[in-house]
Amino acid sequence: MAKYIIDGGRPLKGKINASGAKNAALPIMAASILASGKVYLRNVPNISDVWVMIDLLRDMGAEVKFEPDGNLFMDTGNVKDKPASYELVRKIHASFDITGPLLARFRRAEVPLPGGCVIGTRAVDLHIMGFERLGIEVKLEHGILRAKAKEITGTKVYFSKTSVGATKNVMMAACLAKGETIIENAACEPEVQDLANFLNKCGAKIKGHGTKDIVINGVDRLHGAEYSVVSDRIETGTYLFAVAKAGGDILIEKANPQNLRAVLDVLARIGVDTKVTSDTIRLKSQKKFNSVDIITEPYPGFPTDLQPPLVAMLTTANGTSFIEETIFNGRFGYIDELRRMGADIIIRNRGAVIRGVKNLTGAPVEAYDLRAGGALVIAALSANGTSEVYGIEYIERGYEEFERKISSLGGIIRRVS
Ligand code: EPZ
Repeated sequence: MAKYIIDGGRPLKGKINASGAKNAALPIMAASILASGKVYLRNVPNISDVWVMIDLLRDMGAEVKFEPDGNLFMDTGNVKDKPASYELVRKIHASFDITGPLLARFRRAEVPLPGGCVIGTRAVDLHIMGFERLGIEVKLEHGILRAKAKEITGTKVYFSKTSVGATKNVMMAACLAKGETIIENAACEPEVQDLANFLNKCGAKIKGHGTKDIVINGVDRLHGAEYSVVSDRIETGTYLFAVAKAGGDILIEKANPQNLRAVLDVLARIGVDTKVTSDTIRLKSQKKFNSVDIITEPYPGFPTDLQPPLVAMLTTANGTSFIEETIFNGRFGYIDELRRMGADIIIRNRGAVIRGVKNLTGAPVEAYDLRAGGALVIAALSANGTSEVYGIEYIERGYEEFERKISSLGGIIRRVS
């Protein structure tokens, strides 16, 4: 079983580049089904989830070429409206993002319910409701969503709960609809905005992305485009928390501080200084940092994807922190692993009470999902002694060159397979 062996207790110092955002690159790749032409994407992260999406698109008939420097070329001209493969769709949740594009382009889609990280219930009822509002007939049979429409017609779609996935799918399905679609209570996440920007570059008419109301005016067809994927705010936040905890001085380039306001605010509240320019963030650690109370929320609130890295950082804060998880109902699975390292945490309903301890101690631990993996590596980097982090196939789903970037900052980390 592959693992990282990490010797903790060393400060992290130096400069890294933020990678392209996984959660923007994946839907943009899926959206390319809609563009009847060639798509050229830059800043695509070289992570295993991207490779799964490539396999899925190739299986549907797309031609895809991915270069290690983040350039991805796609021609989706020969994509067929065939059923999506369960073997591939079960591997990543973002695979479900092909549903909206298939519906828009072929007026039919057959996609198994997706897999992905085990972080709690991941319903798709809002996706289905949105499709039905657009005049699409949807059946859920034997774990497969089967949908078809004679015509997709613009309408109002109100989401009772903010959903990134449902907003993306309905927005994509509406791009070639007849007339105007208004998505109310839409997700405002930067990755949703990036997807809308890409679609607009392909000729879509989308307005209001980044606000609660997205308006899509249907067009006849989309064309290919060149596009650079936004930088990964969750990866950037993970490194900021790692350095705040382990100690050191980091400059993150190609970052997008504007998308990280909630994270920078948390750092300010715990007493850690950051300096930002339009595309860099510098953090110099302090000897001690304070506890904080945080609730995870849809953007622009504090992101659920940084909840595990935040908790890992707070295990050695001065005082007691309280972190409430409001987005996913099973996202505290990694707490027992942090306890192995000496963290003092109790879970109360949807909240974690974290009493800061002086030091963590290295231990063998296992990640069961991507961001939990990020949290365990943060803990290991600052712990006394050696840790072995198992389950790194989850980490490699979403963090590009994790081992190389940490080593370049002076962290002692070795991948053993
Ligand atoms: C996206 O997941 C991200 N994944 C997640 O990142 C992220 O945690 C999440 O958005 C929230 O920001 C990708 O972009 C690939 P949701 P998604 O639909 O789209 C409920 C990571 O680590 N819900 O906003 O699945 C759902 O059960 C990952 O990179 C319904 O009830 O998130 C959840 O509780 C993990 N009905 C909440 O809404 C629905 O139809 C938020 O889900 C859809 C969702």
